[in-house]
Amino acid sequence: MTDFKRTLVTAALPYANGGVHIGHLAGVYVPSDIYVRYQRLKGRPVLFVCGSDEHGVPITIRARREGITPQQVVDRYHAIIKESFAAFGISFDIYSRTTSETHHRTASEFFRTLYEKGEFTEQESEQYYDEEAKTFLADRYITGECPHCHNPQAYGDQCEKCGRDLSPTELINPKSAISGSQPVMKKTKHWFLPLDRHQPWLTKWILEDHKEWRSNVYGQCKSWLDMELRPRAVTRDLDWGIPVPVEGAEGKVLYVWFDAPIGYISNTRELLPDEWQTWWKDPDTRLVHFIGKDNIVFHCIVFPAMLKAEGSYILPDNVPANEFLNLEDDKISTSRGWAVWLDEYLKELPGRQDELRYVLTANAPETKDNNFTWRDFQARCNNELVAVYGNFVNRALVLTNKYYGGEVPACGELTEADRAVIEEFRGVKAEVERLLDAFRFRDAQKEAMNLARIGNKYLADSEPWKVVKTDPERVKTILNLALQLVANLSIAFEPFLPFSSARLRAMIGLEAADWARLGDTDILPAGHRIGQPQLLFEKIEDATVEAQVQKLLDMKARNEAAAWKPAPVKSDIAFEDFERLDIRTAVVTACEKVKKADKLLCFTLDDGSGTPRTIVSGIAQHYTPDALVGKTVCFIANLPPRKLRGIESQGMILSAVGPDGTLSVITTEAPVHPGSPVA
Ligand code: MF3
Ligand code: ZN
Repeated sequence: MTDFKRTLVTAALPYANGGVHIGHLAGVYVPSDIYVRYQRLKGRPVLFVCGSDEHGVPITIRARREGITPQQVVDRYHAIIKESFAAFGISFDIYSRTTSETHHRTASEFFRTLYEKGEFTEQESEQYYDEEAKTFLADRYITGECPHCHNPQAYGDQCEKCGRDLSPTELINPKSAISGSQPVMKKTKHWFLPLDRHQPWLTKWILEDHKEWRSNVYGQCKSWLDMELRPRAVTRDLDWGIPVPVEGAEGKVLYVWFDAPIGYISNTRELLPDEWQTWWKDPDTRLVHFIGKDNIVFHCIVFPAMLKAEGSYILPDNVPANEFLNLEDDKISTSRGWAVWLDEYLKELPGRQDELRYVLTANAPETKDNNFTWRDFQARCNNELVAVYGNFVNRALVLTNKYYGGEVPACGELTEADRAVIEEFRGVKAEVERLLDAFRFRDAQKEAMNLARIGNKYLADSEPWKVVKTDPERVKTILNLALQLVANLSIAFEPFLPFSSARLRAMIGLEAADWARLGDTDILPAGHRIGQPQLLFEKIEDATVEAQVQKLLDMKARNEAAAWKPAPVKSDIAFEDFERLDIRTAVVTACEKVKKADKLLCFTLDDGSGTPRTIVSGIAQHYTPDALVGKTVCFIANLPPRKLRGIESQGMILSAVGPDGTLSVITTEAPVHPGSPVA
């Protein structure tokens, strides 16, 4: 680790096709930010590079849907994303974008170099073409019937109903999403990166030389390498992207997954026009990619192959990819709106950035998929940040103000217990460093939190508020030590919780976080003045989390309603069959719950015959017993009677069934006599 002169840290470029959500933050941006802040605190040269990924088909689809240009789409989201990251303290050295001039030039040059070195193969293939719109169709732009589940709205790359991957030629009755016409097959030429040629060195480089990579990353690479790599097209027929800089390639652009990782290079170049090559080409630079697990193959196999083919670049030293974060036990989904968006969080829980950073790290999906729930968020904030960290700090500062007018008392003779505490927190620095160097952020944060636990226990055990009455000298030592612990906390949490660390340092009058002093017991000298304590964290109220949960449930309900389609019409029946059905009206005269049956209501109806009719109906979860009394309902009168819970039910009351199974009883629009036929 220390053999390297500098570390270049990249965080996956988010698509400028929507905002960023907690899954992105937990998987990529918080861990990379912790890592970079730690490097800076250690005094190690580091550069933190990111930007928006602004090409690709989904952006053109969104633009078309909204009737705006792709450029307008990416301008909008680039601004939102950039602002969210800044608000959460993600401390990029540069956050640029792949529509920048520097990027277009850099990616073009990169392609040209590979092209001239003969690193590509060319291949002609047949692809769907829209003759009306005069354009080749990206897989997403072709819809048709799924050959597996017969969903009529499947896409050329995937059926969203049954989840299967598809190729456009599998679709039954393909249609162009642009003109609606039936596409035809047409020849087109593309450039391919022959990954098969790179297989031998990639296999050795990963499977032998990088056994230390996270097991999820190593495992995924191994299964790719075991399958045998195949050439991958690096160009597309599309009008949004970087034009392929080769003659005869009109109407073609670089594939988004070819240009995007080059964005790491372009953005470094934009920031450091004279020095960028040192960061990318000097073997003394260590390159680390932070990504989510869906990006592993691109960062461990495809991009390294591109870099190697170019010839002058270094390769990544590590790729600490995270698994996924679920939300309230369901996959985060942009299209279904099942997400917590950062821009909305900032508005709805203002000033609570560190709380989210804390919970996402405490619960980081480092080794397996994890789940975010608002209840867990609340519990961790209230039981850990407020009750442990905030509470300890508050007690130490309040007592110092009370007994010593806000001046750090001198440390006297140490007792056995003092020494034990000092011993305990001395070790924290080495432990946090060991864990951060190994990309184990959740455990590292736990160690930092441990300092606060040590502090709380120390105060509880040594009881300065009691001792002050019998041995005031002793209290000076206790509070001196407690304040040193507070100072240590403000340093230890700096990579994880930068906002509250800065607030805490302001409270105790500590200028900068000096990492080298972590573990020291003389950070705040005797006589140093601290300020007035303020609450470091505030409780998250029930109402806050309930509102967030409700917002998600509303979203789910809206989605379900939007996705609802009426069932196909049943096969025809003879008109006489319909006539045999005796549907008529009746007035509900009484209704009660059926004992020991959650779903059943027992109705007494006036059907005009003079004899009350009894019908038992399974709608107790949708109506209270008295809700329908006095209403006119419709029922089937000529069904054979059925016994339900010992009650003879004489027919069936008709209801409409809502998308989520809710039932709504059919009533008449105007008053009619009980027993009127329904026809
Ligand atoms: N935009 C991609 C995603 O969100 C990540 C691109 S990473 C880069 O999955 F390496 F291509 F930049
Ligand atoms: Zn299907």
